[in-house]
Amino acid sequence: MEFDKLQEETIDRIGEKRFAHTLRVMEKAEELALIHNIDPEKAKVAAFFHDSMKIKGGGALEKEAEKYKLPFREEWKEIPSIAHGYLAAEMIKTEYGITDEEILNAIRYHTTGRAGMSSLEILIYLADYIEEGREFPGVEKIRSVAKNNLEEAFDMALGNTIRFLIEKKQKISIDSILCWNERVNKKHEELY
Ligand SMILES: [Fe+2]
Ligand SMILES: [Fe+2]
Repeated sequence: MEFDKLQEETIDRIGEKRFAHTLRVMEKAEELALIHNIDPEKAKVAAFFHDSMKIKGGGALEKEAEKYKLPFREEWKEIPSIAHGYLAAEMIKTEYGITDEEILNAIRYHTTGRAGMSSLEILIYLADYIEEGREFPGVEKIRSVAKNNLEEAFDMALGNTIRFLIEKKQKISIDSILCWNERVNKKHEELY
């Protein structure tokens, strides 16, 4: 994919600052893909578009959802930060003809996770969480775990996110809970 040609319109949509984040997510996604034998081109495409509909403005998301004929879910009204991934997936189908469901799902679920994630989905969630611009206590640890064990790093990231939401008294997507429960069922020895 020729990302250079899409750069301008993407910056128009999401701004310079978020685009800089996007480039860092691409870099991290490619790095992890090469280590863990995941298709690096798919990883880069998913990373490039993951926040491509993270637009601002009251009602803007609902308007875009209408444009792309995506029913606006009740949960997105409750937790507006979830919708941009689903919207981005619809937008790139329509505007760029990207139909690879693995890429689309990695974009849809990059904010919440879900039960039954593919390796690419896990990789994108993580790359978004630990790209080199992120600074929070423990980020270095997750970065280093991610180089050896993507699954374990993902559990740490998801656990952190859920803990963070509880501490901030924010709502948690049902998909994140289902994802967490599935991870626990897989009985990883070290969840934290
Ligand atoms: Fe996002
Ligand atoms: Fe992001």
